Amino acid sequence: MQKIELGGVSVPRIGQGTWHMGENAGQRQAEVRALREGLDLGMTLIDTAEMYAEGGAEEVVGQAIRGRRDEVYLVSKVYPHNASTKGVQAACERSLRRLGTDTIDLYLLHWRGQYPLSETVEAFERLCEQGKILRWGVSNFDTDDLAELDAPACATNQVLYNPEARGIEYDLLPRQAQHNMPLMAYCPIGQGGALLHDAILQRIADKHSATTAQIALAWALRHPGVIAIPKAVNLDHLKQNAKADTVRLDDDDLAQIDAAYPPATRKHSLKMV
Ligand SMILES: NC(=O)c1ccc[n+]([C@@H]2O[C@H](COP(=O)([O-])OP(=O)(O)OC[C@H]3O[C@@H](n4cnc5c(N)ncnc54)[C@H](OP(=O)(O)O)[C@@H]3O)[C@@H](O)[C@H]2O)c1
Repeated sequence: MQKIELGGVSVPRIGQGTWHMGENAGQRQAEVRALREGLDLGMTLIDTAEMYAEGGAEEVVGQAIRGRRDEVYLVSKVYPHNASTKGVQAACERSLRRLGTDTIDLYLLHWRGQYPLSETVEAFERLCEQGKILRWGVSNFDTDDLAELDAPACATNQVLYNPEARGIEYDLLPRQAQHNMPLMAYCPIGQGGALLHDAILQRIADKHSATTAQIALAWALRHPGVIAIPKAVNLDHLKQNAKADTVRLDDDDLAQIDAAYPPATRKHSLKMV
């Protein structure tokens, strides 16, 4: 598995998302098993959030990493409506309890809300001093938000990125590269939707004896500063995702993807899901 430095730690460039986990008790066993299988396959970065199933996903992650905490780089997120001085502290402590750990490796502001960034950052810094989090970062921040934040301590910005959503290539991705800030790509396989059934991606996949999901992941990873966090419960999906970093797209593949999903030639406001 390819690695990248994130907040001073070497992490895999393909991690595991957890959105929609913890929503259905009947799925819990499969979700725990999938996350553990993902760890065995080297996808040791796990991304979760207090928002996912209102804490349910963090509980699934907690069960999955029990006895294996040392192997995992754990990322969670605070709701914007909890991003006040007191709110961040309390939200983080609730997340730690659900995750069954003393420390979150990377804690993100899920998106911008009503609280001043300086207040949230101060609360994050306090959590760092207490050892409850090791680093902090943001999510769904556009270039102007990052400029306003102006914080070298911000370890990452997690945003939507896949061939259907390439606006960030115009300015956000270059800006983060310039500041040596890895970009965490969410929905890297388009939430398992139309992208995976695209005829162009299928042709490229056939050429590489790969799947369309692997092509989408390899495409995101062609930028050296990108980390992708696909979510998968299906074990075959997990195995495909873990190997996607071995697929090398050539100029012809990239040109075909550009023709089907043109790169941005002007500023677009940041897409979110
Ligand atoms: N910061 C934010 O605002 C934000 C927003 C959205 C997402 N996220 C994070 O990013 C993660 C990834 O995004 P996402 O879950 O929305 O979408 P995604 O990872 O692009 O797609 C997940 C879907 O694709 C399927 N899938 C996974 N691997 C596959 C493969 N190899 N072949 C075919 N289908 C495959 C999954 O099915 P199975 O589960 O059945 O395997 C699932 O239905 C989230 O889970 C979450 O952690 C963050």
